[in-house]
Amino acid sequence: MKNIVILISGSGSNMAAIVDAAEQGRWAERLNARVAAVLSNRADAQGLRVAQAHGIVTGVLDHKAFDSREAFDAALMAEIDRSSPDLVVLAGFMRILTPGFVAHYEGRLLNIHPSLLPAFPGLDTHQRAIDAGCQFAGATVHQVTSELDHGAILAQAVVPILPGDTADALGARVLSQEHLIYPRAVANFLRSTDSSRA
Ligand code: GAR
Repeated sequence: MKNIVILISGSGSNMAAIVDAAEQGRWAERLNARVAAVLSNRADAQGLRVAQAHGIVTGVLDHKAFDSREAFDAALMAEIDRSSPDLVVLAGFMRILTPGFVAHYEGRLLNIHPSLLPAFPGLDTHQRAIDAGCQFAGATVHQVTSELDHGAILAQAVVPILPGDTADALGARVLSQEHLIYPRAVANFLRSTDSSRA
């Protein structure tokens, strides 16, 4: 059985979409995979309660309790590795990861970013897309490398920017597309790494 560990910092709606897809699509049978744990750097992350309601193991590691990014990432790696992950999924995990962390999970670390990468890495993506006069915005699922919001693109969703759009309105439309592409990208990734089906 392949183990997926999902990292969140907030509402965890992408995590919930992946958990729902795993349950409805019965990944356990089709893909021999399950969401083994959901971890957060914030104890107040709403998504933790959602995961618990699905009977998923949760954990909290408060980054403020660590002296350095390296120390936090080392503790986080230890916590993640308790689940022997085949795939680590960043779903609104709002921490910059150290090169050591990224190297440790190389080839099995995915992220979703709320822009059409390579446009608008970083924060405030929707406002920046509106301010730049873009006609389209969207979201990107990509492999994680040590360069922030770079790495091979696995899936994208495109959303039109409407006249008078606000960052919040656009962000909500993009988020609903994220919920479609992230579970699919995770399933595709698991399928592509399933040696028993080769
Ligand atoms: C999502 O829009 C995701 O793309 C974004 O945070 C939101 C998390 O929502 N991620 C980033 O900005 C990462 N740089 P969620 O907690 O409801 O899934």
